[in-house]
Amino acid sequence: MKRLGVNIDHVATLRNARGETHPDPVSIAKFVKNSGADSITIHLREDRRHINDNDAKKICSINGILVNLEISTNPDIVKIALKIKPNFICIVPENRKEVTTEGGLNILNNKKKLKNIISRFKKKKIRTSLFINPSILDVRNSKFLGADCIEIHTGKLASLVKSKKNYSNELSKIKKCAILAKRIGLEVHAGHGLDYKTAKILSKINQIKEFNIGHYIIGESIFFGLKKVIKNFIKIIR
Ligand code: PXP
Repeated sequence: MKRLGVNIDHVATLRNARGETHPDPVSIAKFVKNSGADSITIHLREDRRHINDNDAKKICSINGILVNLEISTNPDIVKIALKIKPNFICIVPENRKEVTTEGGLNILNNKKKLKNIISRFKKKKIRTSLFINPSILDVRNSKFLGADCIEIHTGKLASLVKSKKNYSNELSKIKKCAILAKRIGLEVHAGHGLDYKTAKILSKINQIKEFNIGHYIIGESIFFGLKKVIKNFIKIIR
């Protein structure tokens, strides 16, 4: 069965807009779990623009909630992540000026660093995933570096679909990567820019086990409520 991970960074963004405590990401994490999601995704950014260290620590210590912590390869962030021990880690690229994670990791240029970080998390029995572009070479290298999973960046597909452009080439790339990854023993996840339509398109790829979705869920919740939107996504992906 395909799983839904809900990224709640945008709840922290809303809280931070006032510099106060509401809406509280810890309460939202519990609410998301009780609404049927399989896991919570949070990104502890180097600039702490949304989730902060205290949020991450508290969310990772809630009983019965699986937490997927996104981190860059920054040594300080890696150290914090090893200390707070989430259930899952997803290593992502981070650029200072980006609004959101713009693409997958540059695996080729960071092989040694990634291999070292992955082995440190795996020693603590933390499932580790690499956020990659839909590239066959990156899939092979992810396996070589010891990752348990890959998360395929779906941002390009999502923007092609939204702008009503031809997306068949991008979809085929994602599909080929998913098939290869599963065959060589990597679990396949997908995320970035997904909405109902793109989640439905990608749900047809059997090899994808997990979707991580954030911005659209939180935005759509303003109209229909968080529980309803989560339930809609669960129905779509399963
Ligand atoms: N997966 C990863 C690895 C991400 O970095 C993000 C964005 O933070 C998401 C999923 C969720 O993307 P979106 O908010 O566009 O749904």
